[in-house]
Amino acid sequence: MKIVITGANRGIGLEFCRQFTGRGDEVIAACRSTTPELDELAQVVGEKLTIVEDVDVTRPEGIATLRNGMGTAPLDVLINNAGLMEVVTLDDLDADSIHRQFEINALAPLMVTAALRDRFAQGAKICIVTSRMGSIDDNDSGGSYGYRMSKAAANMAGRSLSVDLGREGMSVALLHPGYVRTRMTGGNGLIDVDESVEGLIGIIDRLGPENTGLFWHTNGEVLPW
Ligand SMILES: NC(=O)c1ccc[n+]([C@@H]2O[C@H](COP(=O)([O-])OP(=O)(O)OC[C@H]3O[C@@H](n4cnc5c(N)ncnc54)[C@H](OP(=O)(O)O)[C@@H]3O)[C@@H](O)[C@H]2O)c1
Repeated sequence: MKIVITGANRGIGLEFCRQFTGRGDEVIAACRSTTPELDELAQVVGEKLTIVEDVDVTRPEGIATLRNGMGTAPLDVLINNAGLMEVVTLDDLDADSIHRQFEINALAPLMVTAALRDRFAQGAKICIVTSRMGSIDDNDSGGSYGYRMSKAAANMAGRSLSVDLGREGMSVALLHPGYVRTRMTGGNGLIDVDESVEGLIGIIDRLGPENTGLFWHTNGEVLPW
C-alpha cells in the first residue's frame, strides 16, 4: 500500500511511519521539517520511506509541496494526523489560539483530502486523527475550547467526506488514538505510541464501505459523537 501521513516527524505520525514501513508498506512522510528520528528511520528502511518537507498543512503552498513530492502512483491511504492542542479556558478566551487550532485540526484535513482527491486509488481510505475531546456526548469536563471545537468540526468534516467520497468508492475513518504519551501531552498519558498506532492500523486495515464514517477509539470501540 502507498500511504501519506501528515505531521510525520514525531509522536503518533512518526510511529505510523515506523509500523507501516516495518510491514513493507510505502510511506510518504509529510512534515514541516524532518527530525533526527525520522531521518534515522529513513536510513533503516530505505526506499520504503520518502520524506517530504515544507508541508505546513494550513498553507496552500504546503499542500502543493506534498502533491509534487508524493510521486504519481495512486494513493491507498491518507492519514491526516498533524494537530495542535493549546489550552483555552473560559476565563482566558484566546481567539487567535482557537482560530489556529481550527485551521490545523479541522480545516487542514479537509483541504488536504480535497487537494489529493485525483490521486486516490480505487477503494482508497481517508483517515483523520481526531480526539475523543471532540465528542459532544463525552464532554462532561468542559474547557479546552479551541481543541474541543476544532476536533468536533473535524469529525463533521470526516462524516461529510464519508458520504461524498463514498460515492466514489472511498472510505473514511475518524480516529481517536487514546491518551498517548507524546510531546502534545507533555509525556503524560495512559498508553505509548506503539500501542496506540497498532490499534489504529488494525482499524484502518478493517476499514471499508460497510463501516465508513465512524468515530473509532484505538481500542476498537465506536465512540459517540
Ligand atoms: N497524544 C494524545 O494523547 C492525543 C489524543 C487525542 C488526539 N491526538 C491527536 O493525534 C495527532 C498527533 O498528535 P501527537 O500526540 O503525536 O502530537 P505531537 O507530538 O505534538 O505532534 C504533532 C504533529 O503535528 C504537526 N503539526 C502541527 N501543526 C502543523 C502544521 N501546521 N502543518 C504540519 N504539521 C503540523 C507537528 O509538526 P511540527 O514538529 O512541525 O510542529 C507534529 O508532527 C494530533 O492530531 C492530535 O490532536 C493526540
